[in-house]
Amino acid sequence: MEEIVLLGVSASPRKEANSLFLLDRAIAGAKDVCGDALRVERFSFYQKRMSPCIQCYRCDKTKGECVVQDDFRALRDAWLSADIVLYSVPVWHLSFPSQLKAFFDRLGQSLSKRYVRERRGEQALHLKVVGSIAQGMDIFSGQERALLDLMDHAVLQNCLPISGETYIGVGGWTQRSRGPSRIEELAVAGEEIAEFSVAAAGSLGRRCAQLARILRAGFLAEEEWMRADPAYRPVLERLARESGGTDGCA
Ligand SMILES: Cc1cc2nc3c(=O)[nH]c(=O)nc-3n(C[C@H](O)[C@H](O)[C@H](O)COP(=O)(O)O)c2cc1C
Repeated sequence: MEEIVLLGVSASPRKEANSLFLLDRAIAGAKDVCGDALRVERFSFYQKRMSPCIQCYRCDKTKGECVVQDDFRALRDAWLSADIVLYSVPVWHLSFPSQLKAFFDRLGQSLSKRYVRERRGEQALHLKVVGSIAQGMDIFSGQERALLDLMDHAVLQNCLPISGETYIGVGGWTQRSRGPSRIEELAVAGEEIAEFSVAAAGSLGRRCAQLARILRAGFLAEEEWMRADPAYRPVLERLARESGGTDGCA
């Protein structure tokens, strides 16, 4: 089986986090589908610095390299080489944390300069499979909004957001606890919603991996004509990447 690279992003700044727990459940689902052919890269926002875009437009002159020095480049590189991106976020004021938004802003600016458009309006096609998980302290408190915002970003980058077997992604809540392991504790205790979140995370990972495999087979079959269209450069760069795996943690 062709190697599939999965990037799991936990947007929680905490070392232990409900976001990490659900992300791992989704990664386990993807492993069920791909086995050893799955290469997993993880990026946690714990102790990471992600400054906002300062609108200097210097990436115009650097072919998309952002001049702000922090952890942006590591995540950007991992994002570019991934076939699947799984985001697992805590809900912060009805959406995802600003650290991740800072990354998205800089990623968008940087990529639009890296993959220069041949014609006006023609965007680079990244065609990654994107799955999203959002959990918060309360119920009905921004999970759907956060998931939709993540889906919007996937669409903006010409990726393919999918929902798994639930509605628009995986939701969860900690029953008003601030504890970083609360969803795991609730699931172990057999609490219904926590168990549902865990099952939904596994199914999301499985569906992402299945679609990534289908896409990979299609890309390989269609590679020749894709080469003639610069919009597919990000996909062709992924296909060309050397295989050889790690199960790394950034
Ligand atoms: C700045 C901030 C804003 C938050 N806003 C919300 C919110 O709008 N809705 C909600 O349900 N929980 C909110 N929470 C609680 C977190 O979403 C909740 O504790 C979550 O389980 C943390 O995930 P983690 O364990 O992955 O860090 C907020 C927490 C912080 C620190």
